[in-house]
Amino acid sequence: MGQRSIIEPFRIKSVEPIRMTTREERERFLEHAGYNPFLLRADDVLIDLLTDSGTAAMSAEQWASIMRGDESYAGARSFYRLRGVVEEIFGFRYVLPTHQGRAAERILFSTMCKPGDVVPNNTHFDTTRANIEFLGARAVDLPIPQGRRPSEIHPFKGNMDVDALERLIVEVGAEHVPLVMLTVTNNSGGGQPVSMANIRDVRAICGRHRIPLYIDACRFAENCWFIREREDGYGSKTPREIARELFSLADGCTMSAKKDGLVNIGGFLASNDETLVRQESRLLILTEGFPTYGGLAGRDLEAMATGFEEVLQEDYLAYRIASTAYLGRRLTEIGVPIVQPPGGHAIYVDAAAMLSHLPARLFPGQALVAQLYLEGGIRAVEIGTVMFGSTDTETGEERAAEMELVRLAIPRRVYTQSHIDYVCEVVGDVFAQRDRIAGLRMVWQAPPLRHFTARFESVCAPSSPNDLSND
Ligand code: F0G
Repeated sequence: MGQRSIIEPFRIKSVEPIRMTTREERERFLEHAGYNPFLLRADDVLIDLLTDSGTAAMSAEQWASIMRGDESYAGARSFYRLRGVVEEIFGFRYVLPTHQGRAAERILFSTMCKPGDVVPNNTHFDTTRANIEFLGARAVDLPIPQGRRPSEIHPFKGNMDVDALERLIVEVGAEHVPLVMLTVTNNSGGGQPVSMANIRDVRAICGRHRIPLYIDACRFAENCWFIREREDGYGSKTPREIARELFSLADGCTMSAKKDGLVNIGGFLASNDETLVRQESRLLILTEGFPTYGGLAGRDLEAMATGFEEVLQEDYLAYRIASTAYLGRRLTEIGVPIVQPPGGHAIYVDAAAMLSHLPARLFPGQALVAQLYLEGGIRAVEIGTVMFGSTDTETGEERAAEMELVRLAIPRRVYTQSHIDYVCEVVGDVFAQRDRIAGLRMVWQAPPLRHFTARFESVCAPSSPNDLSND
């Protein structure tokens, strides 16, 4: 018997129309948005792959949880339910709800970091890096070398380079490293998983130097599924058991529940350190809210608690990872260069390889994003020089990012297989015209996190790699 189709393990109870636009309309919308997909109206997008964050479809059970939300200002029942679920899955005693991940990051770093400190991570997400740098500390990315090479296959490309970590700690002194972070899965590095063995090695180094280890847990369930599929000794464990083991190696975590919490808003900061939590609570009260709601409604806490239970279900994770792999496999068959192997929540197109006629200063990733929208109303996001590069204020020269990627992030439980087939067709059509895609010139920017608001203009495509005088 042949392998059967991967089906969505749910049926649809409530639908939301999406709108096809004409090419002329899209040209107008894109120009109006300064070639920046963040500045498009969502109603003008057909398939929205900008992010998997806060874009999940909630289940009937989550909507029922919403109705059970306790909106008491202090001590709400919904908080205690969330705390119970977090303790059960993540194993941490103290949990501070926050409106989303970056609020947890800001509170954590403001409490632990001072100017001159260094925070290592496999790869910092953009807001994580920005929150560290905002405090005058340095965010250092230490992925394994394979993690920097898009086409290379490795089962745990999200791993941290442990030798580099040891060297960095010795070089700057453990007293200047207030914490080490591991991002699971490694979003900016291609949605790639981190192995349990690597987490254990990082834990051992942290232990020797008495440095706390924190997990950026946004996509923990997807990471646990990869561990089960790819790491020896985990094949018969449940995702929940793997999660318990993973977090038992850490001192705390930050969580954006907008990813593997299957909710549209929410997050938390968790640890076992009572003294630290008292300090963090003070900051939480200052800007987020009382520690039993942290800027969220009681119903949000309920939906989050139910989401954490659902995200670890095996049929959900099997489908989720298989459908992302399906998109990756089809694009690879067409010849589109992508980060291999496919990650958990997204496919990352290697724009530097696909648009090799465009140098980093003509923003190949952003140019590809623009083309995907023009061609088929698909919204994607650049993870390259626009996001991680910078312009030298004196020379005006662009400092390029290490990779020029375009992320096709897949919202959870939102699009069906036929939507994904449509995405493959559009990417295929763009790929066929890749040599004619023009670069972009950045005409306005506001660092930090310039990618959210930067504006661009199209430049004529250079006729040869040596003829770039048109900018
Ligand atoms: N850490 C990682 C690894 C993330 O991917 C994100 C958000 C955050 C932290 C911050 O969480 O948005 O709730 O404040 N990533 C989204 C994305 C925005 O599109 O990848 P947040």
